[in-house]
Amino acid sequence: MTAAAYHALRKSADRDPVSFWARQARELDWQAPFHATLQWKYPHARWFADGYLNASVNCVDRHVDSPRKHKAAIVWEGETFETRTITYAQLHDQVCRFANVLRNLGVKKGNVVGIYMGMVPEAAIAMLACARIGATHNVVFGGFSADALADRMSDSGAVVLVTQDVAYRRGKDVELKVTADKAAKRIPTLKHMVVFKRGTASVKMKAKRDLWWHDVMATASPQAKAAKLPAEHPLFILYTSGSTGKPKGILHTTGGYLTHVSYTTKLVFDMQDTDLFFCTADVGWITGHSYVVYGPLSLGATVMMYEGAPNHPQPDRFWDIISRHRVTILYTAPTAIRSFMRWGDEWPSKHDLSSLRLLGSVGEPINPEAWRWYHRVIGNKRCPVVDTWWQTETGGIMISAVPLEGEGKQSKGTLTASRQVPGAATLPLPGIQAAVVTRNGKKCKAGETGLLVIKHPWPGMLRTVYGDDARYKAAYWSEFPPENVPDGWYATGDGAKIDAEGNVWIIGRVDDVVNVSGHRLGTAEIESALVSHPRVAEAAVIARPDEIKGNALVAFVTLKMGKNATNLVKLKDDLREHVGREIGHIAKPDDVRFAEALPKTRSGKIMRRLLRELVKGGSGFGDITTLEDFSVLERLRSDDEV
Ligand code: PRX
Repeated sequence: MTAAAYHALRKSADRDPVSFWARQARELDWQAPFHATLQWKYPHARWFADGYLNASVNCVDRHVDSPRKHKAAIVWEGETFETRTITYAQLHDQVCRFANVLRNLGVKKGNVVGIYMGMVPEAAIAMLACARIGATHNVVFGGFSADALADRMSDSGAVVLVTQDVAYRRGKDVELKVTADKAAKRIPTLKHMVVFKRGTASVKMKAKRDLWWHDVMATASPQAKAAKLPAEHPLFILYTSGSTGKPKGILHTTGGYLTHVSYTTKLVFDMQDTDLFFCTADVGWITGHSYVVYGPLSLGATVMMYEGAPNHPQPDRFWDIISRHRVTILYTAPTAIRSFMRWGDEWPSKHDLSSLRLLGSVGEPINPEAWRWYHRVIGNKRCPVVDTWWQTETGGIMISAVPLEGEGKQSKGTLTASRQVPGAATLPLPGIQAAVVTRNGKKCKAGETGLLVIKHPWPGMLRTVYGDDARYKAAYWSEFPPENVPDGWYATGDGAKIDAEGNVWIIGRVDDVVNVSGHRLGTAEIESALVSHPRVAEAAVIARPDEIKGNALVAFVTLKMGKNATNLVKLKDDLREHVGREIGHIAKPDDVRFAEALPKTRSGKIMRRLLRELVKGGSGFGDITTLEDFSVLERLRSDDEV
C-alpha cells in the first residue's frame, strides 16, 4: 500500500468505522450477504449478523476456484528436516475428508472438538474441518499438562479430541497421546479420539474410542459440503489466563473474526502471492490461529510452518529455514529475538537472509535494543519492523506500524513503514479506536502512563467467556461502563502511554497476568497449582523482570508443617515439577522462596507489591500501614538463601 492509500484508509475509518468494517467484510466470500453491520448492546457486539459464510470456504475453496488452485498453502518442515508442501487443492481434499470423518463420528454443528497437537499441517486441517461443518474447535497448546487439557476439554464439553502419538521438540518425543489418555478420564463428554501418527513408537489405542488419522482419512470422501453458517456462529474457543485461577474460554465467532484477521494480515504484512510467510507461533496460541491459519489462508497466501525448536539442532535453525525456503516475512516474539541476540550474530550471519522483506514482533513489549538488533542483523536495515500489539481477546492485530510501498528513489518491492519507533507499537490500525486513560476514564496527557482501552467495538473482538458471561462482563467491561463513558469501553488489562507523536508504548499488564517468554500466565492459576501440593499452605506468585524471558516467575510459599523438618532444596524442585504436572512446563516458577507467612493487608489480601519490591532487592516498600504483620517482611528478606 502506498502512503497516500494508507492515509486515505485511516481517514475513511475515522469518518465512519462501521461502514469501513462493512467494506472489509465484503472482501470475504459470503453465502448470503449481510445488511446489518454492527449491533452493539453493551457489552455484546454482533457483527454482520444476518449474513452467512463458512470460514473453510474462505480459506480453501475460493482459492481452489482460482489460479491459486495448485499454489502452496502450507510449506511444512519437521524438526527432523523432512518437508511437505500442501497445495490449496490438496488442502481442500484433506479438509473435506476430515470434515467427513468428524461427521461420521457424529459431530454436529455447534459441538466442540478439542485439538491437542504439535505443529503439523494436520492441526490446521483439523481446525478448518471443524469450521467446515460448524463445529467449534478448542485448541490446547501441546505443552499443557493432562490436568490443564482435561479442564479445558470438560469446561467446553468437547466430544472429540484430535491428537498425535508424539510431537517432536528439541530432538525428544513429546508424548501427546499418553497425556491425552490421562486427560480423557476427566472429560465426561468425550466420545472419540483421532490420533495422527507422527512418530514410530507404538502407543496404546483404546478400542472403539480411538481411531488412527490415516485409517479414517483413507476411506473418507474428499468432497464435503460446507455448512451455511450465520456470521455469529462460534468458530473457536481458546483458553487463556486471567486474573483468577480458572482459565477463560475466549469465544470467537466466524464473520467478524475472519474479517479482522484477513484485513490485518493484508495490511500489516502486505501479503502478496509471491510471499512465504513464516509466523513462528504455535497453533495452540492465538497468534497461531490468526496468523498461521485463518489470516494468511483467507488471502490465499503461503505459510511456512515449522515443527520444532529454534535451536535444534543448532541455534541457527530459523535462519537455515529462511535461507533454504526463501522466506519473505518473519513474525516472531521478542523472547526469541533476545535469545538469538544472546546466541550471537555468527548464527544468522552464516545464512543468506536476503529473501526477507518484512519483520514482525508480537506477544510482549520489545525492548529498543532487541528491536534494533532484529532490524540490523536479521533485516540488514532493509526490512521494516512491525511491532504488533493485540491479545487473545482482540482476535487480531490492533496497534502496529504498517509497511508502505517504497516511493521515489527506492527500488521496486522495497518497503518503508508508516512509523519506525523502536519499542513502540506505534499507531492503532485504521478502524481501531484505542486510548490511554486514567482509572476515572480521563484521557492521559502525552507521556503519562494509564490504562489502555478500546473505545469502539471491532469485528474480531471476543464475544464472551464461554459458559461465563458474567465473567466476560466483569473482566473486560466493568471498569468503564456506559454509565461513566459513552457506550462503554473495553479494558485491555495493559498499562500504556502515548507520546506526543501519538505512538502507543505498551508498559505491560496491570492485572495478575504475567507474560513469560511471550506466554500468558495467570499468577492465581499457578498459586492454586502450588497450594494443591500437600506441603503447601499458601502461595503468592509474582513476576521479576528477566533479560531474556521478559518476566520470570517467583513463588513465595508457606508450608503446612514447620519448614525445618523438610529438605527445602528438594522441595523446591518438587514444587516446580508439581506445577509442571498441574499446568505445563511453561508455568514452572523460576524461583521458589519459603516464608513463615506472607505479607497481607488487614483484609487478608496478599501485598504483592511488597513481594515485587523484595525480588528486585528494593527496600522502598511505600505505604505499609495496611500490613497485618510487619515482621513478615524482614523474615522474607533474611530467608533469601535457602
Ligand atoms: O500484555 C500484552 C502482551 O500480551 C498480552 C496478550 O497476550 P495473549 O492473549 O497471550 O496474546 C499474545 C499474542 C497476541 C497483551 O495484553 N502483548 C502482546 N503483543 C504485544 C504485547 N505487549 C507489548 N507489545 C506487543 N506488541
